[in-house]
Amino acid sequence: GISQQPAGIAAPAPQANAQPAGTLTIIHASQTGNAKGVAEELQAKASANGVAVKLVSAGDYKVRQLKKETHVLIVASTNGEGEAPDDAIQFHKELKAGKAGKLDGLQYGVIGLGDSSYEFYCQTGKDFDEYLSKAGAKPLLGRLDADVDYEEVCEKWSQEAVDLVKDALKGEAANDVAPVVPLTEGATSLYNKKHPFAAELLTNQAITGRDSDRDVRHFEISLEGSDLTYQPGDALGVWFSNDEQLVDAVLAQTGVDASSEVIVNEQTVTIREALINDYELTQGYASFVQSYAELTDAPKLRALVEDKAALREYCANHQILDIAREQQGALTAEQLQASLRRLTPRLYSIASSQAEVEDEVHLTVGVVRFEQDSEARNGGASAYLADRLEEGGQVRVFVEHNDNFRLPANDDTSIIMVGPGTGIAPFRAFMQERDTRDASGQNWLFFGNPHFTQDFLYQLEWQRYVKSGLLNKISLAFSRDQQEKIYVQHKLREQGAEVYEWLEQGAHFYVCGDANKMAKDVHDALIDIVAEHGKKTQEQATEYVDALRVAKRYQRDVY
Ligand code: 2AM
Repeated sequence: GISQQPAGIAAPAPQANAQPAGTLTIIHASQTGNAKGVAEELQAKASANGVAVKLVSAGDYKVRQLKKETHVLIVASTNGEGEAPDDAIQFHKELKAGKAGKLDGLQYGVIGLGDSSYEFYCQTGKDFDEYLSKAGAKPLLGRLDADVDYEEVCEKWSQEAVDLVKDALKGEAANDVAPVVPLTEGATSLYNKKHPFAAELLTNQAITGRDSDRDVRHFEISLEGSDLTYQPGDALGVWFSNDEQLVDAVLAQTGVDASSEVIVNEQTVTIREALINDYELTQGYASFVQSYAELTDAPKLRALVEDKAALREYCANHQILDIAREQQGALTAEQLQASLRRLTPRLYSIASSQAEVEDEVHLTVGVVRFEQDSEARNGGASAYLADRLEEGGQVRVFVEHNDNFRLPANDDTSIIMVGPGTGIAPFRAFMQERDTRDASGQNWLFFGNPHFTQDFLYQLEWQRYVKSGLLNKISLAFSRDQQEKIYVQHKLREQGAEVYEWLEQGAHFYVCGDANKMAKDVHDALIDIVAEHGKKTQEQATEYVDALRVAKRYQRDVY
């Protein structure tokens, strides 16, 4: 963020000796804001320890500056297929190309944030570590690769890093620069991830038909009294508790007595309470498979631990109960607790604009439901919202800002939105916002789902927007209404000439939804469209699309 000087107050004149002998620079490469949040806490810690510290986004930092630094800490998340976050693409590219020059005067540390269920776990952090070390910089401490429950390990690493920097700077000229007070941006509300707001669920409405294969819900939640604000493109974080029946089944299967006491957050609770409120049961993860394999000597799990690709696939459709079903356990409560990951909130792209719904927030949620050994399995937060929370009940929420998914600053700019399935959510927010702002830019929506009659999410609203002229074009891909599959990327290709024309006239291009297949296929389609209709080679077309990304005219919110 940019700190603004209040009007009428001059910025303090730079002191002659403003740059002390050694300073710390923290660089964050963030997609949705997690890395930025970790970097901000790191900055606060450094300040509290009297270290002169500067915090910057990789998007605002030139690799050439690295030569002038003495101590740098980088916090980097990873995007999609092991790519750098949008903001950091340029920085990553130049560092890789050796544009920083020799960095033998630099000491550094890296935190990589990632999700161990993906193949390219913490790849961006690993890259930065490699490139800096190649340039001759020395690691202050080992790189941290942090999984989705990153908070505690990041806190520990940060303390260690700050202590090391402080020691390193101690020997040098005493620095007389006042520690920088951390900027807490948009901190108008008291509520955040660690201190969520208990919000009332106003509406829980199925928006897929009775005969649909999917259960997609529209939720309306009240933020009244929270002072929480959000912009189209932001996400809502939702904390949840686990299903009690599921908890009891896990306890029985692992052989743990429900009333055994354990310590969570310095409080004594029963293991049953801990599993309901604090531990992740509705996802499978490698650390549990490994730990449970060792504790029970389950042969199948032992074999899985040796095969990373098979393990990843297994974890994608086995929850904790299913993993434990491979072998009856006789664990102590502490063993079970130590094997499990802490529960993390789920993030949903917000489907409303405050310009329209004021102190409400709307979500479009696909409820995760599948079968395992002919038993029903449900998602954590999605089934909590859909099945266990009643209208009028309270859900703990917070706003996660996402500056990498924003409407154009200029209301005259046209936009193309590609949002199949629940990827439609942020585009409902975009259209509400543009409607109330009377934005004159053109709007084109690509939507897809299995069946027109069952799965046309928010059909009436789109029809109303088409009628009013707000939505200039809508292209639909109902994949299973005919013999051959039709997807959004097919519709894009079909309309390639016009898509290219819109881009040439400055349109922004947005994609939201499935990261694994859809976003990749749409990306390929986009390159092909540019090549064909722009009469470019594949390489030139790829450059064109990369340039769109760097210019923030091609933005993705994919999961
Ligand atoms: P399918 O399930 O009939 O294959 C939202 O989930 C929509 O995205 C569905 O219509 C789904 O079709 C479709 N879909 C599945 N794979 C896709 C892909 N690779 N690209 C785009 N859409 C896809």
